[in-house]
Amino acid sequence: MSPSRLDFQLEAQATGSRARAATFRTLHSTVRTPLFMPVGTQATVKAQLPETLHESGSQILLANTYHLLLRPGPEVFKKMGGIHKFMQWPGSVLTDSGGYQIFSLPHSRSMTEAGAVFQSYVDGQRILLSPELSIQTQMAIGSDIMMVLDQCIPSTADEKAARKALQVTQRWAARSLAAREDSPQSMFAIVQGALYPHLRRESAEGLMQMSFDGFAIGGLAVGEEKAEREDTCELTACLLPADRPRYLMGVGTPLDVLEAVHRGVDMFDCIIPTQVAKRGSVFTSRGVIQLRRTVYKFSEDRLDPDCTCPVCAKYTRAYLHHLTKTQEPLGWQLMGQHNIHFYHQLMREIRQSILEDRFLKLYHEKRQILQVEDI
Ligand code: GUN
Ligand code: ZN
Repeated sequence: MSPSRLDFQLEAQATGSRARAATFRTLHSTVRTPLFMPVGTQATVKAQLPETLHESGSQILLANTYHLLLRPGPEVFKKMGGIHKFMQWPGSVLTDSGGYQIFSLPHSRSMTEAGAVFQSYVDGQRILLSPELSIQTQMAIGSDIMMVLDQCIPSTADEKAARKALQVTQRWAARSLAAREDSPQSMFAIVQGALYPHLRRESAEGLMQMSFDGFAIGGLAVGEEKAEREDTCELTACLLPADRPRYLMGVGTPLDVLEAVHRGVDMFDCIIPTQVAKRGSVFTSRGVIQLRRTVYKFSEDRLDPDCTCPVCAKYTRAYLHHLTKTQEPLGWQLMGQHNIHFYHQLMREIRQSILEDRFLKLYHEKRQILQVEDI
């Protein structure tokens, strides 16, 4: 395989686990894995300042080509000098290709060999998102890592549909690579194949023939059982080259992330930390708490006594309970900030334990704490 433009360096491999620690270099920063990427669909992580994200340890933000193509549009990114400058984000950016968003649309979409056809929610226009248009848009956005356009189908799809989707994804991956031309941006392929081991293999092997800088595991967290997800994740991660980053798309809870690191995954993204903060759900070192509950009305306690984030240093549960009950934006902001910090703190602990070769012990301890979470 050709050399990765990310200069991926494997630093440590855990004993008794597939967990690994690595570094790689994007156009904007050197990142340390395993890592979690907060989701900034619209070139903003909901209710979070870029500097707050940076301080809490965010290394890469995920933005969505589908949304940014429709609004503000690629011309705005070209004029403003790319997404980093546009949103004042000093770290790295990964753009998802739009495949998954279109798959998630409730109606008015269709997939053909040419691409995905859908109707714009901005002005009703019919748009063909081809692999080429997705990559051209991601080049205009100026992300560090671009994702190929893929066909993401329900993980419960039958074998025929799953094979068809992975074969289209394969052809779109080749077209995406060709569309990159001489851009210095990196590109990841996406393995599909639903829950069929032989299809996951066919997908991974086909994509590994091409010179991608990293590989994502797609088509999970879309309707399957937790055990099915974990088995498919493990099987797929094992098929992927050791000298490239592995990214599990759209996953998951802190427990899901821990389980996937154990199975050899390096990168994650998920809307959970910001999404649940909006309704007052907070991750703590002792489990999830629901700040809406009346028991917190008079609580002088901090959110999480073990957390080092600025929110936990300052605010009482009583105040955060009040902000949640009144649906004040500040409540969403503060609890989102804490939750993102919680994910990053977990990733830092995981990474440190891998570097010191005590991941397996940490895994068993954390599993107990993170289990049975009702978020
Ligand atoms: N986000 C979560 N899952 C997927 C997937 O299968 N494909 C893409 N492009 N994005 C995702
Ligand atoms: Zn905190």
